[in-house]
Amino acid sequence: MITGLLHLHSSFRYLVLLLIVLAIADAVVALSNGKAFNKTSKMLALGALILSHIQLIVGLLLYFLGSKGFNIIMNVDGFMKDAASRFYAVEHFSMMIIAIALVTVGYSRSKKQEESKRKYKAIAIFYSIALLIIFIMIPWPFMKEFGTWF
Ligand code: HEM
Ligand code: HEM
Repeated sequence: MITGLLHLHSSFRYLVLLLIVLAIADAVVALSNGKAFNKTSKMLALGALILSHIQLIVGLLLYFLGSKGFNIIMNVDGFMKDAASRFYAVEHFSMMIIAIALVTVGYSRSKKQEESKRKYKAIAIFYSIALLIIFIMIPWPFMKEFGTWF
């Protein structure tokens, strides 16, 4: 089951990134031409929220049931000195949770606003910070020797 979840989590990165990028692009374009908040914008923002939450659930399962998360903290002495062990056990886990929380706060703030401009602004700001964190914390092959493409 862990292998299946790992493939799901790994390939899902592209969908999560795509939806967040589309939601930001839509918000930035709308801010520049003063478009009123519409259904497409809502679906993009909500789609990015739902995909990040699914990624969070699968990530939590991998963290607590797989070998590279909680298991490392409990069973491997000196894991903090080993960059690869520390990455999943600490860095990826904590920063991705912060990023997904930012997406959630951005969506929620946008929803509470009345004015279109403020709705788009919340998405543009919160989703952009989240996107940056998510991009940096993905184990890309060009950043980590243990990174994968899929
Ligand atoms: C948008 C957010 C996230 C993205 C894009 C993402 C992406 C990835 C990618 C690309 C991998 C590498 C998979 C591989 O080696 O084939 C990975 C591994 C992992 N992720 Fe995430 N992740 C996210 C959020 C999370 C969260 C929130 C958690 C924990 C709560 C988490 C826990 C893990 C764990 C434990 C692994 C290692 C699994 C293993 O090899 O046993 N991830 N993630
Ligand atoms: C550990 C797992 C999860 C946590 C901690 C979590 C947390 C949250 C929080 C705090 C909100 C409130 C946002 C607001 O103030 O409006 C929210 C909303 C939402 N979440 Fe999650 N969530 C999780 C998993 C999921 C999953 C698996 C899905 C879907 C497959 C999902 C879909 C949604 C949707 C659709 C909303 C509401 C959007 C709206 O207000 O219109 N979440 N979640």
